[in-house]
Amino acid sequence: MSGQRASGPFGKNKELRRMISQQTIQQILSRIDIIEIVGSFVRLKKRGTNYLGLCPFHNEKTPSFTVSPVKEIYKCFGCGRSGNTISFLMEHEKYSYAEALRWLAAKYNVEIEEKEVSPELRQQQQVADSLYILNGFAGKWFHDTLLQSEEGQDIGLSYLRQRGFNDDIIRKFNLGYSPEQRDAFARAALSAQYNLEYLQKSGLVVVRDDKPVDNYRGRIIFPIHNQTGKTIGFGARIIKSNDKAPKYINTPENEIYVKSKILYGSWLARQAIDRQDECLLVEGYTDVISLHQAGIENVVASGGTSLTVDQLRLIKKYTNHLTIIYDGDSAGIKAALRGLDMALEESLDVKLVLIPDKEDPDSYVRKVGAAAFREFVAAAKKDFILFQLEVALKDAGTDTNRRAEVVNQVAETIARINKAEDFTKRQDYIRQCSEILRIEETGLQALVNKFIRDRIAKQESKAAAAAPSSPEDMPLPQDGEGMPLPGDEESINLLFKHEQNERGMIRSLLDFGLRPWDENTSVADYIFTASADIYDLIDNARLLKILDIYKNWYEEGLEPTIKSFLYHEDQELSTLAVSIMDFHHELSLNWKEHFDGKIATRDDLYKEDVLSTMGYLKLRKIKRLMEENQQDLSKPHTDEEQMVLLQTHLHLKKLERDLMQHLGTVIVK
Ligand code: CTP
Ligand code: MN
Repeated sequence: MSGQRASGPFGKNKELRRMISQQTIQQILSRIDIIEIVGSFVRLKKRGTNYLGLCPFHNEKTPSFTVSPVKEIYKCFGCGRSGNTISFLMEHEKYSYAEALRWLAAKYNVEIEEKEVSPELRQQQQVADSLYILNGFAGKWFHDTLLQSEEGQDIGLSYLRQRGFNDDIIRKFNLGYSPEQRDAFARAALSAQYNLEYLQKSGLVVVRDDKPVDNYRGRIIFPIHNQTGKTIGFGARIIKSNDKAPKYINTPENEIYVKSKILYGSWLARQAIDRQDECLLVEGYTDVISLHQAGIENVVASGGTSLTVDQLRLIKKYTNHLTIIYDGDSAGIKAALRGLDMALEESLDVKLVLIPDKEDPDSYVRKVGAAAFREFVAAAKKDFILFQLEVALKDAGTDTNRRAEVVNQVAETIARINKAEDFTKRQDYIRQCSEILRIEETGLQALVNKFIRDRIAKQESKAAAAAPSSPEDMPLPQDGEGMPLPGDEESINLLFKHEQNERGMIRSLLDFGLRPWDENTSVADYIFTASADIYDLIDNARLLKILDIYKNWYEEGLEPTIKSFLYHEDQELSTLAVSIMDFHHELSLNWKEHFDGKIATRDDLYKEDVLSTMGYLKLRKIKRLMEENQQDLSKPHTDEEQMVLLQTHLHLKKLERDLMQHLGTVIVK
């Protein structure tokens, strides 16, 4: 019975998954014509160097969807969506990254060369594939048992019907029933040749006294799907309430069931979330199902635990607007709120709705109906930061110390809203929260600034004092204006400048890396060797990642360009690449200076571009070293140590002067 190697369904297991080779990807990328691809879905008209059309991602009457053939990116100035050809296909056609590549390969007649993946990875994928197949079988078996067996109908189906679930919805969610008999499913699976090892891994079967027995017995089965609709596990709800047995038994963590990444219902919600540009989040399976039955489909469930970064990122892929709907006295609220500070850093806009009277979304929508439910949600929606503040204030009561703590806490939360584009949002919060707290707005502003400063200090480690004495003098390849921040302009501006210079550096590498530096070396060679440690010049972790990937590819003999990142599978990198070369960029560059009577562009002056960005970052590094040295100097030392430190100081000072002078001759005119 057990022990046999899986043949049957596993024997026919599909070919091992392989990866499209980097060479093939490069070939596809080199053929992409964004105007042709996007143009086959959107009617585009030429406007100057760009093309313009009606945005396919939101409703509009006047076109604000812009496509740049030169940069191979699109951006809608109405809804803000932007990306490259591949992300366009992914978003518009709901393709996965690999599907988009295959689609393009077919279109451009590129033969796909696939690479064997490593044995460990292959092994893992094999296990995953087997588990998917097994879960698919189990899901169908439980569903059939619910609808067709006598016990399923008498116990399972009648329970679901009595709760008000109709047959359509039972089918849509593929709900099932597991019989009371101790090994009904195990027998069925084993006789269909499924292998015991995988049955155990899937959590469907356990071995007791050497006998395989079912893990779920006499329960309603809720299959759990991933975003693409594959069954990754199950939640099994008890039917007759019983103090001894847990209400739900869930799949144990395995290769495909990773709790922190699951959003129940996401496979059915995606398009509705897209359409409404909002994602509703509830606690339970039954909440999701009831809302669907009521025609509200943009909903997913967290499973009642605190939200994880992975879940937030998943939501963020679909929309920027998250509305959490929990029952008013749920223990889950606090758990859910705990994860939410992270949502602010992800620029996710979070609202909260509490369902009254000990109801949950499932029971409430049944009680009041779909229309009233929608109205209630719209009216009861509270901003999550303000809500958190109110709860904390209520908790604190009249205790002054605790109220002060609340002020601190809210300032820290607001300080997490730190993306330049969220600046107005942050100021709004400061105003509203100071009203609720009945404190001076300027006071709260100062406190928020302090938290921002603290974080900068941490990130920049002592860099605040190490800036060029007058940063204004430095020519910066920057594209944004500094954000005015009352009370703390300097350090914020400095942070932006540092960040922009780091970006500038990466941009130079991506744009010019493959061009000649001198007869024998390329710009990339120069960049990688010109500083003792290039990694030392950049703080931003994501930029470092680009640098790192570039270096690896380059050393492997590939020829990375901005495109390689624009089309990178990692959406975060691809987005970053888009923002590095955003539309506004060339407009405000200071590079179009008159040069020998004709206009020299950044392109003509690429070496100077590299030298100046590099120079600026080196200068920052020297300033940091001097700062450290200065601090050392202020401690007690032997004469000899003192001498060394002084010499170091002089040496650094000279480096600084040379660099300034050099930068001056290159750029400052
Ligand atoms: N949950 C769980 N294990 C439990 C209890 C709850 O995994 N022992 C998860 C389930 O995902 C469940 C969610 O937390 O859907 C919310 O729990 P609860 O509100 O108790 O269940 P409901 O989904 O409301 O189920 P029902 O309406 O049938 O009571
Ligand atoms: Mn419920």
